[in-house]
This record gives sequence, structure tokens and C-alpha cells, in this order.
Amino acid sequence: MSRPAVAVDYDHDGICQAEFRKAMSNFPTGVAVLTAAENGTRYGMTVNSLTSVSLTPSLLLVCPKKGSSTGEALKRTGRFAVNILSADQEDLCKRFAGEHAPRFEGLEEVEERDALPLLPNSLVHLICEVHAVHPAGDHDIVVGRVTQGQVAAGDPLLFHQGSLTHHRRESA
Ligand SMILES: Cc1cc2nc3c(=O)[nH]c(=O)nc-3n(C[C@H](O)[C@H](O)[C@H](O)COP(=O)(O)O)c2cc1C
Repeated sequence: MSRPAVAVDYDHDGICQAEFRKAMSNFPTGVAVLTAAENGTRYGMTVNSLTSVSLTPSLLLVCPKKGSSTGEALKRTGRFAVNILSADQEDLCKRFAGEHAPRFEGLEEVEERDALPLLPNSLVHLICEVHAVHPAGDHDIVVGRVTQGQVAAGDPLLFHQGSLTHHRRESA
């Protein structure tokens, strides 16, 4: 059965960001918080541009907007951590995407590994070294080499069509 569809010419200056964002919002993703640290200052931002790239070596990519404080800090220091959020961490997603500053204020139980902040109760923690940075429009593609990781059991927080959601699997 064919679905009703709207054709849009994206290769045209007149097409607004909102249309492209709307198209891509149909690709559901998980949600993570990137963290970095520099001279005792902690940085963190919510991202959904996280993708695995290579198995040997273990590489992933994230796309921070050019000029974002966390993205610039991780480029300067060459190191960052990825905290993949669990279904019950919507509050952290919003905290690290919003105006709340400083973002770590009032957060308890933030651990550190190699001086990088790790958010408590996240599904996955990955410690990365910056492998490469590729400028891409108004964002950077940051490729990270994963040096350490930790994985917990649970369901992930999801982002789909502009909303946070989750899908609880039936337990086996
Ligand atoms: C679900 C979700 C996913 C996001 N993904 C990204 C992303 O991949 N790249 C990006 O630059 N901003 C992303 N943002 C927006 C940033 O989290 C937001 O702009 C943040 O304030 C940037 O932090 P900083 O500039 O203070 O470091 C996302 C926001 C949300 C809610």
C-alpha cells in the first residue's frame, strides 16, 4: 500500500531548516550527553547525533554545533565521555540541552573517570580520545576513539519526531 507523501526539493536555498529537521525527525535515535572537562570546569551537552563508525579501531562520531561550549572544550582537550541515557533520564536530557547553568549544579553522584564527568545511572559510559574533526556546515563531525567503556542493563531514552519517548521491552 502506498503512503501519502510530500515531495520537497532540499537542494534549494529557500528550503528552511524546519523542513529538513522534520524529515530527519522520522529517524528515531537514542539520546546521549557528551561531557568534557578543562582546567576544573565541567561541560556537558545533549546529543542525538551519536553513531558508531568503526569496530577496529573502536570509533564513534558525534556532531556538536560549531561554537557549542562542550564541543569547543572537547576539541581543545582532545578528550570526552559519552553518557547514553536510560528511559528514566529525561530530566538529564533537558538539563543538558537547556539554559540551566551551570549544568552540573545540584547533580549528585557525578563520578569522574580520567577527570571526565560521568552521569550516574546512564546506560552506557564511553571514554573517548578525539581521533579526527571534520568541519561540516554549521556543525563539526567529531570522531572519537573509544578507550574505555561500561554498559548497564536497561532501556534507552529515545528521540522521535521531536519528542522524547521510550520503548520498554518485554523481559525475556
Ligand atoms: C534530543 C536532543 C538532541 C540534540 N542533539 C544535538 C546534536 O547532536 N548536536 C548539537 O550540536 N546539539 C544537539 N542538541 C542541542 C544541544 O543539546 C543544545 O544546543 C545545548 O545547549 C548545547 O550545549 P553547549 O553549547 O552549552 O555545549 C540536542 C538537543 C536535544 C534535546
